[in-house]
Amino acid sequence: MDMTRTAPKLLWLDSFEMGIRELDKEHKQLFTELNELMDCLEQVPADEEERAALTARLAAVITHHKAHYAHEETLMARRKYAGLETHAREHRRLEKESDMMFETFTALPPSANEGRRTLALRIRDGLLDHFLHYDLRYKSHMLDAMGR
Ligand SMILES: [Fe+2]
Ligand SMILES: [Fe+2]
Repeated sequence: MDMTRTAPKLLWLDSFEMGIRELDKEHKQLFTELNELMDCLEQVPADEEERAALTARLAAVITHHKAHYAHEETLMARRKYAGLETHAREHRRLEKESDMMFETFTALPPSANEGRRTLALRIRDGLLDHFLHYDLRYKSHMLDAMGR
């Protein structure tokens, strides 16, 4: 059985909020975009137009994450976050990884629907993992700093 078929949608939890309004807003927005991507992946694209729409959506998801990473790093620097260098390195690694997978995605022949879907899901998983494993670590740093 192909488990990726049943990949769950993302549910935003209040505990994901960092208490930094701009970042919380962006994270929520990115969650929405990742869910919209999942909606898009539920159906096999029927024609060139639908394939192009999926490609555009995936490209937008990647671009918006990059813009968010730059913003997040600016805010972390402003707050003199000691883990900034490591976090920024992880952003760069992830950007490179997403770009490479996206390149492979765009090079797939029209018939490779399953391959396209798998790659889109891998990109999505990488972006989501970062939030869950790196950004939320920053949250505990923030809470410590505030003595909570
Ligand atoms: Fe983030
Ligand atoms: Fe991050």
